[in-house]
Amino acid sequence: MRRIAVLCSGGDGPGMNAAIRSVVRCAIYRKLEVFGVTRGYDGLIKGDLEEMFATSVSNILTRGGTILKTARSKDFMTLEGRKKAAQVLKKHKIDGLVVIGGNGSFRGAHIFKEDWPGRIIGIPGTIDNDICGSDYTIGADTAVATALDAIDKIRDTCTSMERIYVVEVMGRHQPFIAVRVGLSGGAEDVLVPDTEYDIERMCDDIKAGRKRGKISWIIIVSEGVASAKEVADLITEKTGFETRATVLGHVQRGGSPSALDRMLASRMGAAAVEALLKGETDKMVGIEADEVRLVGLKEACEHSPKKVKLNRELYNITKILAT
Ligand code: F6P
Repeated sequence: MRRIAVLCSGGDGPGMNAAIRSVVRCAIYRKLEVFGVTRGYDGLIKGDLEEMFATSVSNILTRGGTILKTARSKDFMTLEGRKKAAQVLKKHKIDGLVVIGGNGSFRGAHIFKEDWPGRIIGIPGTIDNDICGSDYTIGADTAVATALDAIDKIRDTCTSMERIYVVEVMGRHQPFIAVRVGLSGGAEDVLVPDTEYDIERMCDDIKAGRKRGKISWIIIVSEGVASAKEVADLITEKTGFETRATVLGHVQRGGSPSALDRMLASRMGAAAVEALLKGETDKMVGIEADEVRLVGLKEACEHSPKKVKLNRELYNITKILAT
């Protein structure tokens, strides 16, 4: 192995830059040449790559987003697209590829091993934390902190104006962000996949809370479970209390990565380079119980309990504390 490439794919997440930095500098430390691919698989198909040096990744550790840019590639889903990507890698004599992304990106990488003889290692980078084989994905911890910061601010206005707020957080089908901000933000209710939400019960709770003198109420809705606006409108209709809906949206994907995300990214980048050197392929670098491990790319993005599992302990404590 002499020359490797690194790309980001799918939705960006804070800490991707830290992972790129780690891959580039660890590769150079191990006497490899390293190329950065711009705009994920789309850039690979177009031959949009250039050599990176230790200074190419200076001062990016603290920055959100990805200096390599990222994309969701439709062309890479076609055999023709993947063949073009394989030709580009062959032309540049690249024999190892590091893919930083989520489950869609890993599915693509897993299929790509049929079209290209080089080695492929994935690094889990997504705010959704929906990859099996790693306790955390890069970006998820920062996204929770960002959403929590916004929710704390909403609490200020919520309390001042004695209103009810329904706040939608991201996470695709995964309740990771919702349950964590629910517990750490003192939310009164959390609507997440896997739980039945009963609007009548919620409204009765709100009315009973008001009678006890409870003046603010924040309900977290995990993306895809319900529309924050519809829930807010129903609450106003059924309780008569002023209710507002806020969708936090893409703000959760940006910002400077947390210490945890920088650590994960730096460790995973180093492990990805070592895995390539050891001849590993079709694997993802995960960290479980603080130990770096390799997991099959297929296994990492398979529909497993991790993807849909709600952490009942967190959910139950949130409900108990919200009195
Ligand atoms: O996968 C990351 C994520 O931010 C999800 O939480 C969300 O469902 C989706 O990406 C949003 O995608 P887009 O950036 O294409 O709107």
